[in-house]
Amino acid sequence: MSKRKHIHILATGGTIAGAADSAVQTTGYRTATLGVEAMLASVPHLEALARISAEQFLQIASADMDVPAWLALAARVNALLAAEGDEAVDGVVITHGTDTLEETAYFLNLTVASSKPVVLVGAMRPATALSADGPLNLYNAVLVAAHAATQGKGVVVVMDDAIYAARHVQKTSTFHTHSFKGLEYGCLGTVEGGVVDYAYAPLKIHTTHSLFARPLPPSLPKVEIVYAYAGCGAGMMEAALAQGAQGLVLACTGNGAFNAAMREFVGRHAGQCVFVRASRIPSGAIAPNGEENDDLFGTVPAADLSPQKARILLMLALSAGMEGLAIVPLFTHY
Ligand code: SIN
Repeated sequence: MSKRKHIHILATGGTIAGAADSAVQTTGYRTATLGVEAMLASVPHLEALARISAEQFLQIASADMDVPAWLALAARVNALLAAEGDEAVDGVVITHGTDTLEETAYFLNLTVASSKPVVLVGAMRPATALSADGPLNLYNAVLVAAHAATQGKGVVVVMDDAIYAARHVQKTSTFHTHSFKGLEYGCLGTVEGGVVDYAYAPLKIHTTHSLFARPLPPSLPKVEIVYAYAGCGAGMMEAALAQGAQGLVLACTGNGAFNAAMREFVGRHAGQCVFVRASRIPSGAIAPNGEENDDLFGTVPAADLSPQKARILLMLALSAGMEGLAIVPLFTHY
C-alpha cells in the first residue's frame, strides 16, 4: 500500500483568504483576511486526501508581492522539499492572490530545485461569497499536489477545475472564475469529480533542470517594464535607466515593434542596459529579427513570455552574470 502523502500548505493571502460583510458582495471586499486555519476549516475533506500541515507564510494582497518575498518563498519551498525523515514533505500548495499568481508561479518554476509537486491556487471570489470558488480550488490543488503524475511537471497552477503550466498561465479576466488560461497552449489537464487527468507535460526547462534552481543572492538586479502605446516617447525608458535599471522589458505593440522614439533610445543605450522585446498582446511569440533588427540593436526577443514573466527571467539571468547573446536562448528554452 502506498504511504499517505504529506502536503504542506503555504498561505500568502489574496482573495482566497478574502472576506466581505455580505455573501453577495464579490467586489470591494477585504482581501488577505482569513488565516490559514480558517481557510482549512472550510475544506475538512482535505484530510482524506493527504496528511496536511500548514503555515501562514504571508498575509498580503498579491499586488504587494515583490522580489524579496519571492526569494524568501523559493528558499522556504526548497527547504520543505529537501527535508527528510518525519519532516519530509511530498508536495507544496501555495494559496495566493490571483493578481500576480502567474508571476510567483513562474519565479518558482525557475528556482525550485525539486521534482516534487508545487501547486499554486487562488480564488476569484472571497471566502464569504455565494458560490465561493476558493474551497473547491484548494481541494483540487491538494488533489493535484498529492497525485503521482504531478511529479516532474514543474510548478503548476490549479484554478477552476484545470491545471496550467507556470510558463504559460495568465489571468485573463478581472472577475470571472474562469479567468486563468494557458492561451495558445491550453491546460495540462483537468480535475473533475476528484479525478486528476493530465493530457500534456511542459517541455520548457524548469525546476531541477533550471540554471537558477540553486541558492539565490539576497537581491536581484533591477529590471523595469515599459509599456508602449501610440505616440509614446522615450521618457519612461529614460527614467528607468536613471533609477538604475540594468534591464528593460518593453511591452511593445504587435510583434515587438518600436516606434521611432523607442528605436532611437534603444540604439543609443544598447550596451548600457539589456533591452527585451516583449509584447502587450497576450498571445503569440516575438519573431527574432522580425519587426526589429535584434542583431543590430542587441535586443532580446521575449519569445512568448509576457512582459511580467520576461522581467523575472531577465532578473535571474542578470543575477547569474549572464550577458549579451548568452541571454537570448533562455527566452525560448525557459
Ligand atoms: C490579490 O491578488 O491578492 C487580490 C485578487 C485576487 O486574489 O483575486
